Amino acid sequence: MLESIPPREEDKILRLMKLFADDPRVGKIDLGVGVYHDADGRTPIFSAVKQAEQRLIETQESKGYVGLAGDPAFHRAMAGLVLGDLAETMPFAACGTPGGTGAVRQGFELMKLAGNPQRRIWLPDPSWINHGSILDTLGIPRADYRYYDAETGGVDADGMLADLAKAAPGDVVLLHGCCHNPTGADMKAQDWAALTKLLAERGLTPFVDLAYQGFGDGVEADVSGLRTMVAALPETIITVSASKNFGLYRERVGCVLAPCADPKARDMTHAALAWLNRQNYAFPPDHGARVVTTILTDTGLRADWQDELDGMRARMKENRTALAGELRRLTGSDRFGFLQSHKGMFTVLGLSTEQVLTLRKEHGLYMVEDSRINLAGLTDATIPPAAEAIAAVL
Ligand SMILES: Cc1ncc(COP(=O)(O)O)c(C=O)c1O
Repeated sequence: MLESIPPREEDKILRLMKLFADDPRVGKIDLGVGVYHDADGRTPIFSAVKQAEQRLIETQESKGYVGLAGDPAFHRAMAGLVLGDLAETMPFAACGTPGGTGAVRQGFELMKLAGNPQRRIWLPDPSWINHGSILDTLGIPRADYRYYDAETGGVDADGMLADLAKAAPGDVVLLHGCCHNPTGADMKAQDWAALTKLLAERGLTPFVDLAYQGFGDGVEADVSGLRTMVAALPETIITVSASKNFGLYRERVGCVLAPCADPKARDMTHAALAWLNRQNYAFPPDHGARVVTTILTDTGLRADWQDELDGMRARMKENRTALAGELRRLTGSDRFGFLQSHKGMFTVLGLSTEQVLTLRKEHGLYMVEDSRINLAGLTDATIPPAAEAIAAVL
């Protein structure tokens, strides 16, 4: 039986990681993988995480099962972080998941449970590659809406609204909460407002994937658009990852939050999410979720975490400014000026696949084939050679 399983295409990023690891050149630069690196090229463990883990080791008395939806204290802590005061005033359903990917999967499955096999989900063009592939695996119909304007390096707000005006009532619209992956181009406050109006008029449900809160402009600023939308609409599905902003990648910490119209809808959604967890893996991972809860509910640890996160964001911004400056100097143009208006860890440079492959082969500069780069992969020492390589292939 097993030999009849058709081969699957290898994950592009994992393949890129392998190519990079196998490259013997000393000056090679990895801007491919989507993980934060500090100035020494390490993916550090937050000091607040270390302290919270230590506390857990000293105080935790059992590793017995927790509820199917995970720990309610974790739900409350994450809802407070993402929704702010709305978490106190709006009923919301929640469940813990293995990372943000697990949350995305459970969120899509939740949509499926709501019936209507014709219901489509609209994805921004482009989007995180796993959105489309998980939807295809689940057999959920999807459509694309215009999102990125390569000419301006910003969001094509008119195109987005025009495409979504064609969505059928009941359809779902996927949005990136902040720090759009892969482009780095985020919606402005007025775009969130216009979109909220359209969703309300056409009876569309937002599905917001939030994987980088705190990486753009700040923990609060990064969710202000999302909060306006949640407050104005009867229901929203939010999928959250703690991989990046708590550096807990391998612990698999995520959750689904679903603000609902009333307590009855909340109870039914909560039961459905717990049931989905049961079908897929029963109980969600607990250790990382408990670490996050410990940090968010302790004033000192929370301040420590926020400081470290602020430092990471500042470093990524400095790298953006420095790379944009080098490219301006080398090309004599503002062609890459958009680097500075983009948010978070990524930017799509707008290079062709051929240029990307030349950068890899001739300059040892690695990026994803759509020319997405990870700004955290750069250091003071690698910014000048990276910029020179990019300028050389133009
Ligand atoms: C847009 C987006 N959503 C979700 C995730 C999920 O991350 P994880 O499963 O590692 O928590 C990622 C990670 O790259 C992402 O970029």
